[in-house]
Amino acid sequence: MGIEQAYVESHPRSAALYERARRVVPSGVTHDSRYLRPFPIYAARAAGSRKWDVDGHEYVDYVMGHGALLLGHNHPAIIGPAAGQLSRGTHYGASHEAEIEWAEEVVRLVPSAEAVRFTSSGTEATLMALRLARAHSGRPAILKFDRHFHGWHDYVVGSSRYGAAAPPGVPAATLDTVVVVAPEMHVVRETIASRDDIGAIIVEPAGASSGTLPLPHGFLRELEAFCRQRDLLFIMDEVVTGFRWTPGGIQQEEGVTPDLTTLAKILAGGFPGGAVAGRRELLDQLAFPAPGERTEKVGHPGTFNANPLSSVAGTACLREIADGRHQSRARALAARLRTGMNAELHRLGLPGLVYGQASEFRIVLGGETVPGPRDYDPRDLPLDLLASGTPRETERLMNLSLLTRGVQLFGNGGMTSSVHTDDDLVHSVEAWTVTLEALRSENALPS
Ligand SMILES: Cc1ncc(COP(=O)(O)O)c(C=O)c1O
Repeated sequence: MGIEQAYVESHPRSAALYERARRVVPSGVTHDSRYLRPFPIYAARAAGSRKWDVDGHEYVDYVMGHGALLLGHNHPAIIGPAAGQLSRGTHYGASHEAEIEWAEEVVRLVPSAEAVRFTSSGTEATLMALRLARAHSGRPAILKFDRHFHGWHDYVVGSSRYGAAAPPGVPAATLDTVVVVAPEMHVVRETIASRDDIGAIIVEPAGASSGTLPLPHGFLRELEAFCRQRDLLFIMDEVVTGFRWTPGGIQQEEGVTPDLTTLAKILAGGFPGGAVAGRRELLDQLAFPAPGERTEKVGHPGTFNANPLSSVAGTACLREIADGRHQSRARALAARLRTGMNAELHRLGLPGLVYGQASEFRIVLGGETVPGPRDYDPRDLPLDLLASGTPRETERLMNLSLLTRGVQLFGNGGMTSSVHTDDDLVHSVEAWTVTLEALRSENALPS
């Protein structure tokens, strides 16, 4: 039986829910990345490193809440305090102690954070970071890097993917204030030399799309030094890397000090939440002026800012991950998974590569070379191989096949948590081997 047919036949309840969803939700999905033809799985429950769907299948989960779950699903250190908060109230519409504790943890862990302001998502965090940068510098334009993802608001969706045009629904006037360039220092220097309206640079510090296209060695330090020299604000978007790479994010690992940092995902312990943190002087633009001082502050309402549930869960999570044990374990597991998957590509003589930084992994099927049975530092790999990626149809069938065998990826890869187990890795590599064989027998691997 073919890959797609096996998937369809074994997931009748998910298929039925998808048909129902399509009647009321465009394409049946509530996040673009959850779209999968012929239909996605519908989850019923989750625990630790696993989730179960409505057809009763069990999966090793590498989506891990889009990266929000470093401790896996329902970790007792988070669920206990969150459950306690549920019965004390879910929205006070008032200041509360838990938001102070949450802010104190962020300031304690993130090296550049002198103060913090909470939002409801990473998208809102980058929107606020750009507003603070523009208000401070007085310059309207922002430099961002091609394919670096900072959420879905209008200022950050410019990409070479759309050529000179704006993405549908985004005013061209908005994109006039955002300059999109390749992440190369000489391009950054030339661009800044050619315009005097750019006040800040925002970067995804692991490289485009959560490390799919890593940055060159030393790039962040060079960028930081350049920003200092040219009086530009340096914004690191640590929505994915914050608390995952190390307790203090990539900035701690690489010893760089951004002016502003955006955070979300692990920050809120699996509940909705985001934050912008950074230099006091920049965050204080949000502060109310004393009588007689300046007249205008930077505005920031938001019904769910520092919601009590997110505050309690986030604080519990940050306390649990503060000593780095969870990050180290998740990293070691991801390195073993990448090595095991590369060993199977090597044994079967198939071209492609599994690579990644910290506790992430990314898959490329195709290219010229068969990998060795080992892990790679992605910054040593040719960028054009990583940029070419896996053909869409191959990636789709790969996902369907892995789902049929009890493994759920997040698109072209995924993330480990600290609670994935040896059994999870063994099971995943077995599913990977069968998937590669199935793709080969359907002629679905790129030649
Ligand atoms: C680097 C980065 N910034 C910002 C965002 C947007 O965060 P959210 O999905 O919470 O709006 C994401 C989401 O994946 C991200 O990866």
